This record gives sequence, structure tokens and C-alpha cells, in this order.
Amino acid sequence: MISFILLLCRFFTIAICVTDQYVLDDKVGLGRVFDGIGGLSGGGATSRLLVNYAEPYRSQILDYLFKPNFGASLHILKVEIGGDAQTTDGTEPSHMHYENDENFFRGYEWWLMKEAKKRNPNITLIGLPWAFPGWVGHGKNWPYDYPDITATYVVSWIIGAKQYHDLDINYVGIWNERNFDSKYIKVLRDILDKVGLTDIGIIAADGDWNIVNSMVVDPYLNDAVEVVGAHYPGTTTVLEALKTQKKLWSSEDYSTFNNEVGGGCWARILNQNYVNGLMTATISWNLVASYYGELPFGRDGLMTAQEPWSGSYVVESPIWISAHTTQFTQPGWTYLQTVGHLAHGGSYVALTNGKGDLTVVIETMVYTQRTHDHSVCVRPPLPAFNVTSQNTTFQLKGSFASLAQLQVWRSRFNFKTQKPTFFEKLSPLKVNLRIRNVAHLQRSLRSLDEVYTLTSLTSGLKGSFPDPPPSAPFPTTYKDDFNVANPPFTEAPDFADQTGVFEYHINLTDPGPHVFTLRQVVTQRPVTWATDADQTISVIGNYKWENLTVSCDVFMETVKTGGVFIAARVDKGGQSVRNAKGLFYWIFSDGSYKVTNDLAGQAVLAEGPSGTRAFGWHTLTLSIKGQYATGLLNGYPLWKNAVVLGPKNGWAAIGTKSFELAQFDNFAVKAE
Ligand SMILES: *[C@@H]1O[C@H](CO)[C@@H](O)[C@H](O)[C@H]1NC(C)=O
Ligand SMILES: *[C@@H]1O[C@H](CO)[C@@H](O)[C@H](O)[C@H]1NC(C)=O
Ligand SMILES: *[C@@H]1O[C@H](CO)[C@@H](O)[C@H](O)[C@H]1NC(C)=O
Ligand SMILES: *[C@@H]1O[C@H](CO)[C@@H](O)[C@H](O)[C@H]1NC(C)=O
Ligand SMILES: *[C@@H]1O[C@H](CO)[C@@H](O)[C@H](O)[C@H]1NC(C)=O
Repeated sequence: MISFILLLCRFFTIAICVTDQYVLDDKVGLGRVFDGIGGLSGGGATSRLLVNYAEPYRSQILDYLFKPNFGASLHILKVEIGGDAQTTDGTEPSHMHYENDENFFRGYEWWLMKEAKKRNPNITLIGLPWAFPGWVGHGKNWPYDYPDITATYVVSWIIGAKQYHDLDINYVGIWNERNFDSKYIKVLRDILDKVGLTDIGIIAADGDWNIVNSMVVDPYLNDAVEVVGAHYPGTTTVLEALKTQKKLWSSEDYSTFNNEVGGGCWARILNQNYVNGLMTATISWNLVASYYGELPFGRDGLMTAQEPWSGSYVVESPIWISAHTTQFTQPGWTYLQTVGHLAHGGSYVALTNGKGDLTVVIETMVYTQRTHDHSVCVRPPLPAFNVTSQNTTFQLKGSFASLAQLQVWRSRFNFKTQKPTFFEKLSPLKVNLRIRNVAHLQRSLRSLDEVYTLTSLTSGLKGSFPDPPPSAPFPTTYKDDFNVANPPFTEAPDFADQTGVFEYHINLTDPGPHVFTLRQVVTQRPVTWATDADQTISVIGNYKWENLTVSCDVFMETVKTGGVFIAARVDKGGQSVRNAKGLFYWIFSDGSYKVTNDLAGQAVLAEGPSGTRAFGWHTLTLSIKGQYATGLLNGYPLWKNAVVLGPKNGWAAIGTKSFELAQFDNFAVKAE
């Protein structure tokens, strides 16, 4: 418990008061305009499992993220413009798989943006491509050779957002963390302007700061770019960036496991991105960890919601660290010039709405070599620094001199006791008696690893719901016949595409039981961002599964050269999917089958004739127990006792031999 110190310093010199003085004054001039704090859904497929939560849990999670004055109360939602390719933890579908195709109901980002907007009509929306469908690159792994085609493709996404979902996109980016192309940026600006989207700002280049060197010598490029967005800037910027006089954003940051250290990282960078780098927005990759935890960067979201089958979710510390700033500011508020580092470590920022309101956010994150780093982010490396106990006095001047008290909100990480407390409302801090017309606000920051908000706003709230259901593993018996006449989403629940896109498909001309199926629809390698596989694959289930039976009806649509597989114990996804091992049971449209230990299809355990062909349904069944696996075709044994030495466990999966159309139906798993 920390007691407030309301010393009358009148009779003492400052030295006797043992306090560091900071002035908060709006009359000496203001700093930059604040643009908000946000989260990034996608880059890639990071919200995949969120959509499969049952109500009321799904709405509760969305409230924790977006509802004003409730939880993280985010100001910004940035989403991936799906490009049909693997972009870290999965693929997200494009609105144009093919050149003559347009569909604005694929994936879940439209839904997410609408849910965010429903809660906060003022939320800033940003779209950014990671990858593009293959046709955009004309077969090359490069989107800039035909800049007008790429720009038209991106602009069609923005127009579709408005036309089909009434969503106004505020900003659009170029190509995530890849080379920028000045010509492309100008063409994109041109096409946006031509269709009347003059209000949409371009963010560039979503990588390092290098674009500013081109902007300072190219006035047309400089005009085309509204925001310079850097990723993982380590809280600092470069001189040339300041020279552009543009808004500077950390347009992707954090990417850190969301335990208390991650919360500390988030607290430190939210303040210091402005203090050190004059960045006026910070966006977390990712928004919510809603992907299988064994995929790359598991739990690197502001909160965790990776169990739609149980309904369990966890509100992690970054939610409440966000609240310290988001609940007491809005985009359009302005930083004071008087922000900075505290004398004995930590930092403070102060913002005002220009109407006399004041919000101060203070963080005192500790760096200790002996124990561990309390606020280290995954990248970049954190230079050593010291924070010690300190008394601070804020002098309120200018418009703030008349404030009588400030509300106090506190989070304490308490690494020693392991009992953190987040976003507690303390009793208000009374402003000290006037001393020569200066209001003094004194606070003893004796404890380290704390975050404080001192604010004239009385509106904050630590939102809560009854505890969600307890965590539980993926069900051991699972079936999906994909018979959904009017599906709310294009993907089947819990399938996480790692290369290719698997969508609900309706074939009204099918005479039999396969009117409703799941279909792999990507027929050409996309313009990729991460390494994908040469095969398509969608994983599902419990990564711990060892002994199980997987079965599925499959339908090849490529004569002679086509192939499909079902698999168990698949050990890798995300950017490593290319190297996935497991037990893969393939049939091919040339009338053969194969059993391999890898997705690449190189490590063959068994092979032979199968009589399988395209445009006919076949039922594959794969059973694996210990080291032995057996396969059935249409209910009859095709191969048995294939010896599987590793991996020992992994997901179940379905997929195709190449980028080809193929369908799946009556998927079932029975695990021990
Ligand atoms: C949205 O912004 C307007 C104008 O700044 C403000 O009056 C309104 O309260 C905001 N709404 C929410 C839900 O924050
Ligand atoms: C932190 O404090 C320790 C002990 O006083 C000192 O040895 C070290 O150099 C300091 N580190 C920094 C970065 O100031
Ligand atoms: C903070 O102020 C109190 C009261 O004046 C004093 O006892 C204490 O030593 C000060 N702490 C520091 C770290 O300066
Ligand atoms: C639809 O079903 C018919 C009859 O089984 C089949 O011949 C055709 O290939 C199927 N088409 C698609 C696109 O699924
Ligand atoms: C899987 O089956 C093998 C062979 O029967 C057995 O040794 C192993 O314990 C089983 N694993 C699990 C998790 O049940």
C-alpha cells in the first residue's frame, strides 16, 4: 500500500522535500497530436479461432478489446487485407482469388471491423496487405510490376468495405515489411483520389524508417504518404523522419508473450514511443491471440482467446495497460511538450483535449540483469537502464492550474510477490495548496514496475464479466459434415489454413450426399510474404494428439496430376509449414496412393496403386497408434503397419498435392 504524500512544501526548500519536479503546462506550446493505440488482426490469421466462440463469450472478448471505458478500449483496428497466402500463423482469404472474382464476405476481418465499429463508432480502421493472389503478380512473386493492377486490387477492397459493410477505411498501407516502390505509392494515391477516396491516408512503408530518405528528396512521394509507419522501432525514430514533418507511428509493435513481462513491455513502449520517438500511435501485433498456441508467436496478443471449443479466454495484463492510456485520451488529444523520462528511471507522458482536461501516464518499468527483464519486448533488444524509488512533484500550470484533484489509476506488476494488481482505482489525488500560483501534485513512486494514470477525467472503468468456462482440451471426438446452408463465415470452425484457402462450397447439381463440402480454392501460388508450402494444408485439433483415427471423404478436381491427403501428428504450421512432418496419407488422380512422413511428400513410408481418380468421391481413413499406422480406402485396408518414428504428436490435417481445387466432406477425428 502506498500512501499519498500531500506535503506542504511552503516552508521547506525543494531539497528538503526530496522530490523531483516536473512541470505540466499547455501554455508553453503543445507537442504532437495523439492518434491512438490499437491492435492488429491478421498478419496472419491471428483472429482465426475468435469467430468460432459461442456467445456470450465472443461478445465479451470483443467488449474487452473495443468497448469504450471498459477494457483495452482500443482507438485503432488494423486488419490484414487477405492475400490467400501464409502470413505468420495462417492464411487469410483474398476478396479476389481470381482476376474476375470479387467476394466481400470471405474471412472474418469484415465481421471484426463491424463488431469493433459497433462498440466504438469512432474507431480508426486500417487495411494492409501482406500477400496478394498470384494473378496480381502475373506469376512473379512481386506486386509492383503492374502498379495500377495492384493498386486497383487494393482500392477494390476499400470500396467493398463501404459498399457491403458500410465500413469507412481510414488508412491503407503498401506491402507489409517488404520493399516499398515509390511509383506504386504514387499510383495508389492517384487511384484513391480518382475514385473520390481523397480522405484515405497512405501509411508507408510498414518496415524500417528508410522511406523517409526518399520522401525528403521526392516531393510527390512525400505528398502521397500521410503517415510514416515503422515496425518495432525500439521507441526511437531517425532525424530524417522528423524532417518530413509527417505523423510518425509505430504501425506494428509489441509481438511479445502476453504474461507480466509482456505487459511491462507494452507499458514501456506505449509511453516511450512518444517520449523518445515522437510516435503518436502504437499498434500491437497482435490484437488477440486467437490461433493454436503451438503456431509461431503463441499468445503474442493483448489477450488470449484460443479455445472456442471450451469458451475459455484470458484477459491478460496488456488489456489493462492499454486502458491506462486509452480510457483517458482520444485520438485528437495533444501531447504536452512537457513529457519525458523521470529522473530516477521510467517515463511520463501528458495529454490534453484542449478543454482543460489532463491525463498523465507514468511507467516505472525496471530492468534487472540479476533477475530478469521486467519489460523486455521480443524485439528490438532493450538497452540496460536503472529505475529507483523516487518522489515526484508535478506542477500544474496553464489551463491545469485550476484543477483541484486528479483521479488515480494504478497497475503494479509485483514481480517479487507474483501477485500483480491491474488498473485499480485509488482515491483521487488532491492538488496541493497553491504556492506562488502553482498547483503542486506530489506522488511518491516508491514502488517499481508500476503504471499510473493521473487524470481529470472521471470516466474510467475496469470492466468485467463472470469468469469464462475453464480451459479444456480440444474434444477427442470431432465431426464436421460442412452441411451449413447459410454459414456465417466462409471457413469451417477450427480449421486453420496454413497454405491455400479452404471454404464452404455448395454444389446444387450433386445428386448425392455431397451438396455441402469444404473446398480448397487457391489454384496459383500467391505473391507470398512468408514461406508457404508447395502443398495446401489446413490443420485442426489438439497438438498433443498421438493416437487417433482421422477420416474424410475427398474429391479431386484435377485429372491425372491431382492429389489430396489427410494427416495426423502434423508438427509445424505458420512460416515453418513447409517443413511440417507427421503422417500423411495421399491419394492421387493418377490411380496411386502414398504414405509419407512429411508434407513435402519426400519421405515415403508406403506407396502403390489405389484406383483413385478425379471427380469421384473416396473415403480415406488413417489410424495411428504408437509407431504404427494403417490406412483404409472406402472402408477397405489399402496399407498397414507403416512405421512412424516421429513426430510423436501434432494436429490432424487435410490438404492437396498442389495449388488445385479439391473438396472434403464428413471430416471426423477420434483421438484417444
Ligand atoms: C466519437 O467522437 C465524437 C466526436 O469527437 C464524440 O462526441 C463521441 O462521444 C465519440 N463517441 C464515442 C463512443 O467515443
Ligand atoms: C545501474 O546501477 C548499477 C548499480 O548502481 C550500475 O552498476 C549500473 O552501471 C547502472 N546501469 C545503468 C545503465 O545505468
Ligand atoms: C520521498 O519523500 C519522503 C518524505 O519527504 C522522504 O522521506 C523519502 O526519503 C523520499 N524518497 C526518496 C526516494 O527520495
Ligand atoms: C458437382 O457435383 C457433380 C455431381 O457429383 C460433379 O460432377 C461436379 O464436378 C461437381 N462440381 C463442383 C464444382 O463441385
Ligand atoms: C499411444 O499408443 C502407444 C502404443 O499403444 C502408447 O504407448 C502410448 O502411451 C499412447 N499415447 C497416449 C498419449 O495415449
